Amino acid sequence: MKILVNKKEYNLNIDPDMPLLWVLRDILYLTGTKYGCGIGVCKTCTVLIDGVPEQSCVVPVSYVENKEITTIEGLSADGNHPLQKAWFEKSVSQCGYCQPGFILQAAYLISKNPKPSLDDINRALSEHICRCGTYSKIREAILFATKE
Ligand code: FES
Ligand code: FES
Repeated sequence: MKILVNKKEYNLNIDPDMPLLWVLRDILYLTGTKYGCGIGVCKTCTVLIDGVPEQSCVVPVSYVENKEITTIEGLSADGNHPLQKAWFEKSVSQCGYCQPGFILQAAYLISKNPKPSLDDINRALSEHICRCGTYSKIREAILFATKE
């Protein structure tokens, strides 16, 4: 099976039912995508599939054949995506575990809505869970990244 991750093609001989999360982490060693609940409710494992956020813990790898996957490692070449710079500027992360999922969800939001309001941001991120409680910093960073 061929999959395209961060613009790189991989030819894999694996169980087609394997969740994408484990393919990314255990086979491709792209460990930026994190495991939280494993049942599709915390959004920690979010990646972009053809540009749309999906939970990689519940997506079988067969679903992404011929689709383009972007993980946090592929969001920018050197961490210079406006959101990554804003995250740094605003010191958003605490333990950091949930942050790749939030950043990819936010990247999708601003790809569709370059000037999101606070309400837009709240709606877009409402299902993501951060045990460290960085929600207000995340909102601040997204507004900062999109202010001009
Ligand atoms: S680990 Fe995938 S949604 Fe929680
Ligand atoms: S920064 Fe620790 S869980 Fe979100």
